Amino acid sequence: MIELILKTIWLLLPAYTPNNFAVIFGGGTPIDFGRKFIDGKRILGDGKTWRGFIGGVIGGLLTAHVQILVERVINVRIYSSLTYGSFLTLAFLLSFGAMIGDSFGSFIKRRFGVERGRSFPILDQLTFLVVAYLTASRCQAFYRLFTWDVLVTGLVVTPLLHLSVNVIAYKLGLKDVWW
Ligand code: CTP
Ligand code: MG
Repeated sequence: MIELILKTIWLLLPAYTPNNFAVIFGGGTPIDFGRKFIDGKRILGDGKTWRGFIGGVIGGLLTAHVQILVERVINVRIYSSLTYGSFLTLAFLLSFGAMIGDSFGSFIKRRFGVERGRSFPILDQLTFLVVAYLTASRCQAFYRLFTWDVLVTGLVVTPLLHLSVNVIAYKLGLKDVWW
């Protein structure tokens, strides 16, 4: 059980980390160029920028490459069991899919009138993951590593992980609210 959870988190790191890189590298021109949707509200909002998106995807790829090195050191073969080409394709599709899902989540939030930066439970934690799964399912390697038990564990563990990280950040005084 614990092994399955750890393996799932490991496999999902290239999808988890892009948003953190987006926070660091984000800013500048918004993806929607400030434009509004037919409902008069912003298409995505100022929280989704080109720099954040591209920095996020590159960050996810960087994470995956660090994982390959770590796998060598601790002698496990998950991502390193793939050929470099398959690994690169899978890592790219996971991080790109995560950023597409992140933007899609914002699109939905704006349609519900939820302002930029305000939380929308479940949607905030699962949209990026579901879209990352769908995007990554375009490549063969996905089916080798993301078995059904991993996919389901990811859906259960991700919101819990999100919540625990927020609680820790709150306790450390990095966030004003615990959720
Ligand atoms: N960010 C960015 N570009 C992206 C994604 C994120 O620049 N494509 C940066 C923004 O500075 C954003 C921060 O990372 O404010 C946190 O990301 P996120 O929580 O996804 O955005 P929110 O500001 O909460 O906006 P939204 O309500 O649309 O989710
Ligand atoms: Mg947010």
